[in-house]
Parts: sequence; structure tokens; C-alpha cells
Amino acid sequence: MSERAIIEVRGLHTQFGSHVVHDNLDLEVRRGEILGIVGGSGTGKSVLLNTILGLKSPDGGEVFYDGRAYSKLSAEDLTALQQNWGVLFQGSALFSALTVRENVQVPLREHVSLPLSLMDEIADLKIGLAGLAPEASTKFPSELSGGMKKRAGLARALALDPDILFLDEPTSGLDPIGAGEFDTLIYDLSRTLGLTVVMITHDLDSLHTICDRVAVLAEKRVIANAPVDEVAAMDHPWIQTYFGGPRGRAALRETR
Ligand SMILES: Nc1ncnc2c1ncn2[C@@H]1O[C@H](COP(=O)(O)OP(=O)(O)O)[C@@H](O)[C@H]1O
Ligand SMILES: [Mg+2]
Repeated sequence: MSERAIIEVRGLHTQFGSHVVHDNLDLEVRRGEILGIVGGSGTGKSVLLNTILGLKSPDGGEVFYDGRAYSKLSAEDLTALQQNWGVLFQGSALFSALTVRENVQVPLREHVSLPLSLMDEIADLKIGLAGLAPEASTKFPSELSGGMKKRAGLARALALDPDILFLDEPTSGLDPIGAGEFDTLIYDLSRTLGLTVVMITHDLDSLHTICDRVAVLAEKRVIANAPVDEVAAMDHPWIQTYFGGPRGRAALRETR
């Protein structure tokens, strides 16, 4: 295992019935980096994320966090590890009957026991960190715009002061300006809080502007795990279509 890896996936096999999703997949996430994960729809990005989060057991292979194999951990050990991870699931996954503040408090209530006034303070701090105005605290998800929902989900992901932030398609559904602002927020948070970020994305702008490295999921494996310029130069049909198409070229021009 390389010294800087905080997460390592080795020889992952995932299968639903006869449908093989991952076959001998390797992935390395380095401490402090922003790693983008790309791949066509249905290539197993979200399932890979759930496996890294320990929510799904691998059908083969192993996942390591900080050198520790999940398969060797007790359920309590895994729960303790999960407290270091913040997750923004695809589509934000906020509880519609709870206010933003109450949503942010869900992980706090699950993992720590604090007086209510302190929980309110922590929640409001995270809501501010995620770039929402204080008034957003008492709003319900249905009263929020798409971009505000993502920020509320981000505030919840930050609730327990995670070491790693996992984001599943955080900018999908946002307009280009909203997506750009969200990217900047993620970048600033990662640098100021020293967060490692694993971000599944379709957004070429995000890959070029904030990701240190990109992992490409294709052919049931990670076929590339390198800085975006190196990946974009690879001679692979999916990569060439994705990075070399009109949208890819436009994103490249804008960041140079
Ligand atoms: N619980 C499940 N049962 C059966 N098939 C699943 C399940 N979860 C995901 N899949 C299948 O695994 C593949 C990868 O899914 P997913 O990781 O959601 O793709 P994406 O890369 O779009 O995030 C898809 O073909 C999906 O239908
Ligand atoms: Mg997905």
C-alpha cells in the first residue's frame, strides 16, 4: 500500500445475480486530495461509493481505510470509522419532514450526545460553512432551490467534522454558475479544513478546475487514476469521446 493512500480498494468484485458490475477493480484515494470519479451511467460509481462507505460488502476483494481491512473490523469498529466520513448522496437525500437545522443534526443525534442548544449551535455553524444564510436553518427542503438543497446536504455531511467528504454527483441539476460556485465551495472547504474529497461527477468543469486526480470507471474497472491532463491524453475510446468531445474541449480551454 502506498504511504499516502487513505483509502485503497483492491481487486473489488461486485455482482448482482449474473450481472457483474466490478471485476478486479483497484482504486487509491490519497490523503488531502480531491479525487473525481467519472464513468458512463450504470458503470457502478454509486455502488463503488457504497462499498467504500462499508454500506455494501464486496463480493470479492478488499477495501482498506488507513491500512485497515474492512473485513477484519468489527461492526463497532466500522461504525467508529464511519464517523470520520461525511456523505452527500446523489439527489441530496434530505428528510422532507425535517428543517435544514434538524437535517444537519441527524448525524449528531446518531453518534454523539450533546445538549440541544449546543447541537443548534453546531448545526448553524455547518449551515454557514456550506454557504447558506442563517434564515435557511428553519426552512424545509421543499422551500429550498436545487443549489440550496445541495448545500444543506453538504452541511449535514460536515456535521461530524469528517476527514473525508464523499459527494455523489453534487453539481448535477445545477446551472453552470451554481455548479461553479459549488465547486469553489468544495475546493475552499477541502483546503481550509484539510479534507480529502471523493467526488463522483459528470461535470468536466469540476474535473478540470478542482480535482487533483481523476479515476475513470469503464470495463468494470478503474482504467485510469491520474491527474486530469494525463487521463485526457489517454488513447481509450470512452476517454477520448468524453474528454475530447466538444464539451470536453470547451472545459479544457476555459481552464487554461
Ligand atoms: N441493489 C441492486 N440490485 C441490483 N442491481 C443493482 C443494485 N444497485 C445497483 N445495481 C446495478 O448496478 C449497476 C451500477 O449501478 P450504479 O452504481 O448506481 O451506477 P452509476 O455508475 O450510474 O452510479 C447498474 O446496472 C445498476 O442497475
Ligand atoms: Mg450513481
